[in-house]
Amino acid sequence: MRVIVPLQGVVQGRGGLVLGSVIPCALFYLLQLYLKRHRPRPSPSGEPSVPIPRTQSRSLLSPRGSSAPASASSRASAVARAPDSPYYSGYQECSMDAYHPVSNPEGVIQLGLAENQLTLDLVRDWLERNMKESLLGNLHDELNISGLATYQPYDGLMDLKIAMAGFMCQVMQGSVSFNPSQIILTSGATPAIETLSFCLADPGNAFLIPSPYYPGFDRDIKLRTGIELIPVPCRSTDGFSLSIAALERAYTQAKKRGVKVRAVLVSNPSNPVGNLLSRETLYDLLDFVTEKNIHLISDEIYAGSIYENTKFVSVAEVVEAEDFDRSRVHIIYGLSKDLALPGFRVGVLYSYNETILVAAKKLARFSSISAPTQRLLVSMLSDVNFITEYIEINRVRLRKMYALFVDGLKQLGIECASSSGGFYCWADMSKYIRSYSEKGELELWDKLLNVAKINVTPGSSCHCIEPGWFRCCFTTLSERDIPVVIGRIRSVIESCKVNH
Ligand SMILES: Cc1ncc(COP(=O)(O)O)c(C=O)c1O
Ligand SMILES: *[C@@H]1O[C@H](CO)[C@@H](O)[C@H](O)[C@H]1NC(C)=O
Ligand SMILES: *[C@@H]1O[C@H](CO)[C@@H](O)[C@H](O)[C@H]1NC(C)=O
Repeated sequence: MRVIVPLQGVVQGRGGLVLGSVIPCALFYLLQLYLKRHRPRPSPSGEPSVPIPRTQSRSLLSPRGSSAPASASSRASAVARAPDSPYYSGYQECSMDAYHPVSNPEGVIQLGLAENQLTLDLVRDWLERNMKESLLGNLHDELNISGLATYQPYDGLMDLKIAMAGFMCQVMQGSVSFNPSQIILTSGATPAIETLSFCLADPGNAFLIPSPYYPGFDRDIKLRTGIELIPVPCRSTDGFSLSIAALERAYTQAKKRGVKVRAVLVSNPSNPVGNLLSRETLYDLLDFVTEKNIHLISDEIYAGSIYENTKFVSVAEVVEAEDFDRSRVHIIYGLSKDLALPGFRVGVLYSYNETILVAAKKLARFSSISAPTQRLLVSMLSDVNFITEYIEINRVRLRKMYALFVDGLKQLGIECASSSGGFYCWADMSKYIRSYSEKGELELWDKLLNVAKINVTPGSSCHCIEPGWFRCCFTTLSERDIPVVIGRIRSVIESCKVNH
């Protein structure tokens, strides 16, 4: 600038646009020429012109003990440096001192981890009966080692895609069918989300996401791709339902900041609230993304964990029925929640967009499911009797635990947002926080963890804008734990009352 601006001043008024660029270019060329002439010349062999003897060079380059350590990338350093949110630090503390009714009755009770332990017995029984044969084949025949030990397609076995499509259809109560060739299988829903994000947006681009949202999204989407998440606040007065007007506002604000919005990401049923997107809202959402010419990602990982009698509507059902442009719609699914198999690491990226499917198939190399796991699941998902029974029993047990937990909280004067699915109560404890702020919320969270020995997820970790809400996962509990949990919460909120 300093060179060019005065020059333009000199030539201005003499029709000098050409001169104004010719002179700086000429100067630049001369500078290059000068530098080239005076650059130290490498010897023909490419060695430095004054060779340093090997033994000496080694001690020169790395004198023992005094060299700085080889540094990590700035990305890795940033990841390592970032402080853990209460969402992570809470469950770390919990795992070091986990509650057990007999062996550790004073331990921390885990309500912060989204794991369904209500149906582990069903999964265990099935595995005990069928694991050997589904892995090793008919035990009288020779073991087919090549289907287990050799490389398999990275994006999943076709047999498992077919079984998965069937399972997804069953989970959604037959309201929609899924095409196996639109499925990419990944090792958990997390890599499915990251891969999809990578395919839909560039670093610095953003997704709009209704808040409160699943705290893991900050890691899954932002950490490696450099994509931004823009929370779109939902309010308690609307039952935390999504408002298209709020979506519109967030979109406009992002645009003003010069940020390119590439997609809207919803979780349906929502984690943490547990409410569902109505059919009307899905239509509005599809209209919104069509008008803005962006993508829609629907994370439906809890689709089979509905405990109320409300019908779940998948975005797939709406785009299949109506004349929407499907190529902008993508669904995330997996077996971590509905089949209580988070340890198996099985996720689904379902897309209607050929370009995305082709790219995701290549990227699946980074997150394949092991072949033995896939073989096992082909058998399990194809066992129609087991799956039908499982889905039904799971619903009944979820419904019961949800009712017991919500009822217990109600007796303490704590209300939960109304919800239909998932593993959580979204509880309003705002009247027990000392200051109506994030600080007040985290003070109560800390007391619940360190005094009551209960780990819950504070709303701020979910980017909720109203302080005092907490996500309590009830599927890691057994029925007899509930009075213990409620008693512990009571002890803390009673001390809050005294302090008021
Ligand atoms: C909404 C949502 N999406 C994705 C995931 C990640 O699932 P996975 O363990 O299969 O990676 C979770 C897990 O809690 C979740 O709640
Ligand atoms: C073994 O498994 C592979 C991969 O599924 C299959 O292609 C092959 O036909 C099987 N071989 C036998 C003998 O069953
Ligand atoms: C798929 O998505 C890409 C990327 O957004 C887009 O360019 C393309 O038009 C979409 N549709 C199809 C059919 O590939």
